[in-house]
Amino acid sequence: MKRPVAWLAATGRAAPVKVLTNHDFAALGLDTSHDWIVERTGIVERHIAGPGETTCSMASDAARIAMGRANITAGELDLIVLSTATPDRLLPSTAVDVQATLGATRAAAFDISAACSGFLYGLQVAEGLIATGSHETALVVGAEKMSAIVDWTDRSTCVLFGDGAGAAIVRRATDGRGILSSFTRSDGTLAELLYRPGGGATIPFAEAVLTDRSHFVKMAGREVFKHAVRSMSEAADRALDGARLTGSDIDLMIPHQANVRIIEATAKHANIALDKVYVNIDRYGNTSSASVAIALDEAIECGRIKEGSTVLLVAFGAGFTWASTIVRF
Ligand code: ACO
Repeated sequence: MKRPVAWLAATGRAAPVKVLTNHDFAALGLDTSHDWIVERTGIVERHIAGPGETTCSMASDAARIAMGRANITAGELDLIVLSTATPDRLLPSTAVDVQATLGATRAAAFDISAACSGFLYGLQVAEGLIATGSHETALVVGAEKMSAIVDWTDRSTCVLFGDGAGAAIVRRATDGRGILSSFTRSDGTLAELLYRPGGGATIPFAEAVLTDRSHFVKMAGREVFKHAVRSMSEAADRALDGARLTGSDIDLMIPHQANVRIIEATAKHANIALDKVYVNIDRYGNTSSASVAIALDEAIECGRIKEGSTVLLVAFGAGFTWASTIVRF
């Protein structure tokens, strides 16, 4: 097992106050039901941003909590890596907005686009830059305002997603605690199974985009489901192999919260009992990049992760991207 280069000094999370329950979709005129959503996904409710709540504001709120717990000031941050599929603007990055909001004047700040795997991609980027010696103290954030990019008339997608942010302070490891292994992969040949066709540089935003509703998320759910199970299982295997561990060594698995059936299939494959799997999809839905980060912060706060715990983080998302990380706390 390698000696950790980086460790997670503290975490934080933020979610909008407004909660939309499955029952609320009836009032929106959507042909769906609480029972269908719970049975197929495990989702009961999700947080939805209100006026003035942005990807940057949620990211900054989560970051401030993490910084407070790590007892560091904004001036000590030298790196901000923000994963989002819902940047507040297309240019420049949301990371620089967070940098400005926090007053982190020494930090290099940039976004990464890896959808639901993005927080784990971000951890690996931070770990790598800390390993080179170029950076010491990183803020890694996953933040999403998914409510801005889902089609609220499409029942096959809009019921799935929610808004929120999770953050971690990643620093140079000084003892045996920290990131034991990381794994990241992508397959762009499958990009169009889950994507937003319009509004980018290929089909710039114009009347036709609005008419076609092509600026909203399109997803081939059943296909995505199959790939998610396969890829999250592979990711779990690869992180365990990398740390020379097996499923029975894991104290808690924190999976991306997209569908409770995908989570259960991944845990079964990795030989991790369901009572060692953290699930909060019922309260958040799929918050994409923020999902693993929010769940990690909750698990620490409620005592499911203690000093010495060995935790497997695993995710899958649009791209496709998939990733895993094992952390010793
Ligand atoms: N309410 C009621 N009925 C619905 C709804 C709804 N909200 N949505 C779809 N249906 C209907 C469909 O129209 C279909 O009807 P039909 O049989 O008459 O055609 C039926 O329910 C079954 O639809 P399926 O798509 O086959 O349902 P499935 O069991 O596959 O569940 C789901 C759909 C929940 C989307 C599932 O496929 C899934 O979770 N996919 C993976 C999503 C995922 O992992 N995303 C990860 C990445 S997200 C990111 O990166 C941003």
